[in-house]
Amino acid sequence: MITDLKKYIESTSNYFQEKFSATPTLVAYAPGRINIIGEHTDYNLGLSMPSAINRWVIVCLRPRPDQLISIISQNYHDKMEYTIGEAYVPSHSWQKYTYGSITIFGNQFKLDKGFDAVIWGNVPIGSGVSSSAAMEVALMNALRAAYTADIDDLALVKLCQRVEHEYLKVNSGLLDQYASQFSREGKLMILDFNQLSSEYVEADMKDWAWILTDSKVKRELAGSKYSERVQETANALEEIKSKNPNVQGFRDITAADLELVTDPVQQKRIRHLILENQRVLDAAEALRQMNFEELGKLLTASHVSLRDDYEVSCPELDFLVDTALQLPYCAGSRMMGGGFGGCTISLVRKDSVQKFNTFMTEEYIREYDIITEINNYQLVDGAGSYTC
Ligand code: GLA
Repeated sequence: MITDLKKYIESTSNYFQEKFSATPTLVAYAPGRINIIGEHTDYNLGLSMPSAINRWVIVCLRPRPDQLISIISQNYHDKMEYTIGEAYVPSHSWQKYTYGSITIFGNQFKLDKGFDAVIWGNVPIGSGVSSSAAMEVALMNALRAAYTADIDDLALVKLCQRVEHEYLKVNSGLLDQYASQFSREGKLMILDFNQLSSEYVEADMKDWAWILTDSKVKRELAGSKYSERVQETANALEEIKSKNPNVQGFRDITAADLELVTDPVQQKRIRHLILENQRVLDAAEALRQMNFEELGKLLTASHVSLRDDYEVSCPELDFLVDTALQLPYCAGSRMMGGGFGGCTISLVRKDSVQKFNTFMTEEYIREYDIITEINNYQLVDGAGSYTC
C-alpha cells in the first residue's frame, strides 16, 4: 500500500479512537480519478480512458451492538446520527451522499445492527476529480465488508451510481465510480460502457506528464445542465432509431446517421459522441506507440468538441486550455470531467513542468485574479477494504 494512504488511514483511525473511545474494526478507502479522454460518453454507452489518483476518501468503521448509526465527517467536523429505519433528513451534502449510500445498500442487504464511523478525504471537491464518487465507493466498500454482503464490484459501483440518481438527482454515468473501484497502479483503463468492461494499458509517459490545472470554478447548475445533455442525446437516439432500423443503441450510430437528427443542437451532441469514442481508440493507439504529440492533438480536439459541440466548457476552462497551448512544451490540453468548471488536463514535457506551472499561474491571475492549483497526480489502485 502507498505510504501516503497508510499515513492517512492511521490518522483517520486515531481520530476515530479519539471520538468513539474504541478502535475501528475495518477500514475502506476509495480514490478520486482523472480521465485522459472520453468525456460525456459514459451515459451514452461509449468509451473513456480514466485512472484513479493518489487522493482518497477513507472510512473507518466499528459495528455497534444496537441500532444506532453514528457517523462523523472529519473534514466538516460534523456528525449525523440516526436509528436504522428512522427517517433522517440529511442537511449538508456529505450527509446526502452518506445517507443515500447507506439507504440504498440497506434496501438490498438487511442492516441488523448499527455502526460508528469516521469519514475523511483529501480528494479536491468540485475540481472534477470525483470526490463524490470516491465517497460513495469508499462507503459502499465499508458497508459490504461490515455486513459481509454478497455483492461483486460491478454491482457495488452500480449501487453507488444510484446514489447520484436518487439522492443528488444527477443522472450521471458510471465513469467515476468504475474508475474509483477498478483502477490499477500505473495503468490507464480503456473503459467500454456498452460492455461494462475495461482493458488496462501501461501509462508509461516517458518524458511527459499529465498536469491538472484547477479553474477553481465550482460546478454550480452543473446538475441541471448535465441532465439536459443526458436527455438531448437520449432524444436524438430515439429519433435515429425510428428512422434507421439498423440502429438499436448508441454504439450503432455512425456519422451517416447524423443527418437523421432534426434538431441541430442534438445533432452536435451526437457528433461529439461519435468522434469522442473514436478519439479514445486513437488515443489508446497513440499511447501504445508512445506517440505523445499525437496524443496531445487528440486531447485538444476533444476540448474543441466539448466546447463547441457538447457545450459543457466555460470561459475559464477555455482560457486555461488556450493558455497551455501557447507553450511549445505542451502537446495538448482539454477540460476534464463534467465541465462548467473544475479543471483542465494537459500533456506537458516533464522537464518543463515548473515553467508550465509558473506561466499558467501568472496568466490565470492576470486574467481572472484567481490562484489556480496545479497537480501532477500518481495513478493508483482502486478501492479496497480490510479488517483490523
Ligand atoms: C461527471 C459524471 C460522469 C461523467 C463525466 C463526464 O464526472 O459524474 O459520470 O459523465 O462527468 O465524462
